[in-house]
Amino acid sequence: MRNKIVAGNWKMNTTVTEGIALAEAIVARMDSVPAGVSLVVAPPFTHLTAVAKVLAGSPVALSAQNCADQPKGAYTGEVSAAMLKDAGCRYTILGHSERREYYGETSEKLVRKMALAFENGLKVIFCVGEKLEERQEGRHFDVVQTQIAEVLFGLSPEEMANIVIAYEPVWAIGTGVTATSEQAQEIHAFIRRTLAAHFGEAVAEATTILYGGSCKPSNAKELFACPDIDGGLIGGASLKADDFIAIAMSF
Ligand code: 13P
Repeated sequence: MRNKIVAGNWKMNTTVTEGIALAEAIVARMDSVPAGVSLVVAPPFTHLTAVAKVLAGSPVALSAQNCADQPKGAYTGEVSAAMLKDAGCRYTILGHSERREYYGETSEKLVRKMALAFENGLKVIFCVGEKLEERQEGRHFDVVQTQIAEVLFGLSPEEMANIVIAYEPVWAIGTGVTATSEQAQEIHAFIRRTLAAHFGEAVAEATTILYGGSCKPSNAKELFACPDIDGGLIGGASLKADDFIAIAMSF
């Protein structure tokens, strides 16, 4: 059985005070979350130590949204994987489309970031997904395969145990347009076949693959019912504790 995960990517939202309140509200509702479903929250860097205190003793795991591609030193404005671990993170998101698009995140950089995350004992939520024109041109399978091959194929099968993949079609992020469950299942199954071809069936079967992009309480049930969708990476709807918990209850 694969791990089922619902992860909230808060992006650049909430003040520290609001973030603490949101984390407290999530922890307070944990009783409603079905056994076997793990929750992860990814607040902004400035919130991590404060949110870590709220989550201490709860099963909710803390994640960063990004980490530096260098271990330490003169890299103004960057936050290292070691700092994230020290702040209480168990995960970091890497390769989100917003970072690829707005901050020049290349596969080469992601390889370096991932190595540093692993060296520091962080698990990685690795995001992939095509843009609208790439889907319209029928290139979505190629795009996703390349994103996976360039970053994950250098890993060992053992390291793959520390990877969660998030498929997030760029055209569905923050747009209110969700991939249909058929579209999502089709590409999730493709991702799993891609992993199987390179790493073997055991790794492919064990890897958690999340869907992200306008996932909300009203569509989570249908998405999570698909055999290759193991949970969600939630943006907007993760900023309301009730919605986030309702999504986690959709398994
Ligand atoms: P939305 O749920 O707001 O579409 O964002 C998805 C996302 O990008 C999560 O990383």
